[in-house]
Amino acid sequence: MLKVTVFKDERTLARALATQIAATLNETPDLVLGLPTGRTPVRLYHDLGTLHADLSRATTFNLDEFLGIGPDHPGSYRAFMAHHLFSRVNIAPERIHVLNGAAPDPEGECGRYERAVAGAGGIGLQLLGIGTNGHIGFNEPARELAARTHRVVLKESTRRSNAALFGGDLSLVPREGLSMGMATILQARRIVLMATGKSKARSVELAVRGPITTKLPASFLQLHPAVELMLDEAAAGLLGEHATF
Ligand code: GLP
Repeated sequence: MLKVTVFKDERTLARALATQIAATLNETPDLVLGLPTGRTPVRLYHDLGTLHADLSRATTFNLDEFLGIGPDHPGSYRAFMAHHLFSRVNIAPERIHVLNGAAPDPEGECGRYERAVAGAGGIGLQLLGIGTNGHIGFNEPARELAARTHRVVLKESTRRSNAALFGGDLSLVPREGLSMGMATILQARRIVLMATGKSKARSVELAVRGPITTKLPASFLQLHPAVELMLDEAAAGLLGEHATF
């Protein structure tokens, strides 16, 4: 069974995780972090800024990016990260890695990214959110999952939940993305998946208790030796009794 920690609300969760990451960075300044986007990590990123977490020697790799828009596009995950994290902490710009959705050769970009992750020594701490359909990164439920960084067609539900980045206009949300693969993620030495709100309760329950299936990519986390799910009470709502922090 995956390790699950339940917090009374999103604020407490974010603060606890930010404090933990800041402490890890003190012990391991050259930590390689894998980072998600989405609403879930926003408070965590702000708290890392408030706590003055020292990322001066850290390296980051974002999980995914939209295909067909460049890093300067306001809807890109690169822009999201600049706004919510990179502009708030002391990370060295040359150690920030985000897939380039405007790369002329997307498959080549994926290969380059895999090599960069390997070249940095692999990911030490991978943070994850979870989609309401159980996706992680842009690894969508499917008959087959890709092991390595790859190009992916986005589900309508995923595009819809990202529409806010494009002024709420679904037609502007790219139809494809680039994403780290399942093996890229599962090779991280430690993984923390965050989930908040009732809309995540079902996918969290299936990830923890359900069969390991390509129809719910997060279920593969059950195979990893060092995963922690950090949840608020609403996201843990279908897991039964838990001590709450
Ligand atoms: C997005 C991202 C994922 C993220 C997920 C959940 O599509 N590609 O990396 O974890 O959806 O987003 P949110 O935190 O907004 O619910």
